[in-house]
Amino acid sequence: MNTKEIIIRKAEDSDIESVQTLLSTYFLDMDGVDIEHFTVAESSGRVLGCAAVVDHKCLELHSIAVHPNHRNRGIGSLLVEHIVSNAPDGWGYLYVRTTAPGFFEHVGFLKLQDREKIKLWDDCAKCDKFERCRQSAMRLCLKE
Ligand SMILES: CC(C)(COP(=O)(O)OP(=O)(O)OC[C@H]1O[C@@H](n2cnc3c(N)ncnc32)[C@H](O)[C@@H]1OP(=O)(O)O)[C@@H](O)C(=O)NCCC(=O)NCCS
Repeated sequence: MNTKEIIIRKAEDSDIESVQTLLSTYFLDMDGVDIEHFTVAESSGRVLGCAAVVDHKCLELHSIAVHPNHRNRGIGSLLVEHIVSNAPDGWGYLYVRTTAPGFFEHVGFLKLQDREKIKLWDDCAKCDKFERCRQSAMRLCLKE
């Protein structure tokens, strides 16, 4: 399989089970995000990757995952490119909280200071594990 065979598209209700199964591989879940906020990567009718975008105080990329047998083949990058190209108007940056900063640096995100998380996310501001948190906050400028 090469990336030419990958279709990146908006998720549909019928993708819910595939997205849940894929995320569960990494002990992730949809985290209350509706399927309509997800983008999926499909090949031969199978969902091999997914990512969501949510907007609260900031625009955030959420729940990105690629099937373990198909990692490092460019699918994660295709998902991010599609999300950036289709980002809703009115937002200057796309943010992410991640334990995989190397991947996000590769696709153009820059690391922020940990204290920025408190300004950007109410759940970080309230979190009693903030000092021990392993997630890096990163952002990508959408206007370049
Ligand atoms: C992170 C993830 C989505 C990346 O998807 P992918 O399809 O494997 O990524 P790509 O193939 O597009 O990788 C692009 C580049 O990033 C690098 N990369 C991928 N994952 C990386 C990671 N975890 N750390 C550092 N670099 C990484 C790749 O090596 C590649 O570099 P190269 O082109 O120089 O070889 C995927 O590895 C994954 O599902 N990880 C487990 C779930 C997870 O950690 N999600 C993030 C939670 S926020």
